[in-house]
Amino acid sequence: MNKGTFMMEKTLKFLSLFMVALVLVFGTGGEVDAKKKKKKIKLTDEENAMFDRWHVKPKKRKKAVKDMRKKPKFVGAIKCNGSCHDPYYKAWVASPHGGTFNLLKAGVRKEAKERVKLDPEKDYTTTPLCLRCHTTGYKQRGGFKPAGTKSKKGKDKASKIDPDEPNLEQVGCEMCHSVAGGSQFRAVMKSSKGDFTKAETEKYGQRWDYSNVCTRCHTHPNTPFKPSVHDKYKFNFEERKLKVHKIADYWSEDNADQKLEKVKDRAKEKGQTEKTPLVIEDFEVKDGKLKFKKGTKPYNSKKKTFKYKKG
Ligand code: HEC
Ligand code: HEC
Ligand code: HEC
Repeated sequence: MNKGTFMMEKTLKFLSLFMVALVLVFGTGGEVDAKKKKKKIKLTDEENAMFDRWHVKPKKRKKAVKDMRKKPKFVGAIKCNGSCHDPYYKAWVASPHGGTFNLLKAGVRKEAKERVKLDPEKDYTTTPLCLRCHTTGYKQRGGFKPAGTKSKKGKDKASKIDPDEPNLEQVGCEMCHSVAGGSQFRAVMKSSKGDFTKAETEKYGQRWDYSNVCTRCHTHPNTPFKPSVHDKYKFNFEERKLKVHKIADYWSEDNADQKLEKVKDRAKEKGQTEKTPLVIEDFEVKDGKLKFKKGTKPYNSKKKTFKYKKG
């Protein structure tokens, strides 16, 4: 054996040992494939009929169905912006609801806090009671997680806050438009390219009971800022509604294609939530944790049913 072949053999031996070690450490990927196969998605006739109506190509259906079947979760206002609702997002950032988290900081709105016996110098940005009404989806799937939130292994799980791009830390789109987060109906909106009916998004957790949904916070028994404290906390829906989406100033060349073409058609339809508003969550803070009271949650994720107010 000459020196060259000897070296080659040695290298080959080393390489094969190395490969064996790799397989031992990372596996062949066989298990993962098996799991994937088990979860193979098959569309129901109903789902296919829905996609047919929206003219969605077969290739694109499976991905959409995945999001539509998974339990609903909060996704944040930035996801509603994307290439769809830019003027709404921009107007929201500048609106009162786009800055609700900031009110929880020390020194902000001192007078209002003093009036309701809150400590104006205290930082309330991690206080469970306040977070329910000043952020998006707190204590629900995908929702806002305050500073100090850790996983079981001690990893930092707090929601990232970017002052230039408000998101889950404020009262976002999903606190008014969703039952339990927007992940499912977002997939409907995207797949249908805006050509959906109220009934179609309601099935996936969008709500149209606007005057009702405001009472998740305004005039709720748990808000410190009740009409009895000051006249300015009285809630007149028709007046207040006008201040929620001042989108007129936020249209530009870049988002001109985001006009909602089907709004007029949809307005002719009366959604189920408009006929029978959903129940409003009641909650309490026990042992430092926010708990929703039984029977007051509008969505049951096990049974996949909605709970409406009794007529
Ligand atoms: C049940 C929901 C709810 C809870 C709980 C809640 N808030 Fe609010 N908060 C509201 C609503 C609604 C408003 C707006 C009231 C209005 O303008 O009519 C508000 C307004 C405020 C304001 C501005 C008031 C003003 O007049 O300028 C501050 C400050 C504030 N909240 C801080 C807090 C803090 C701190 C906590 C926790 C101790 C808290 N909130 C808990 C719903 C809530
Ligand atoms: C405080 C509650 C609230 C928040 C937060 C909110 N909305 Fe709305 N939204 C409303 C109300 C109320 C209407 C109905 C307005 C009307 O009838 O004039 C509406 C209407 C809309 C419409 C028109 C729907 C249609 O078909 O008529 C769109 C689109 C929309 N909102 C998107 C958004 C987006 C995107 C965000 C977040 C960036 C958002 N909204 C945040 C309350 C809210
Ligand atoms: C998740 C809680 C929440 C929901 C739901 C909610 N709001 Fe609010 N809203 C607030 C908080 C907190 C403020 C205080 C903002 C501030 O004072 O800067 C506020 C402030 C406002 C203001 C500004 C008050 C003012 O005069 O400056 C308007 C208008 C308003 N809400 C309308 C609505 C309407 C209409 C709905 C229902 C479609 C609604 N809100 C739903 C939490 C909520």
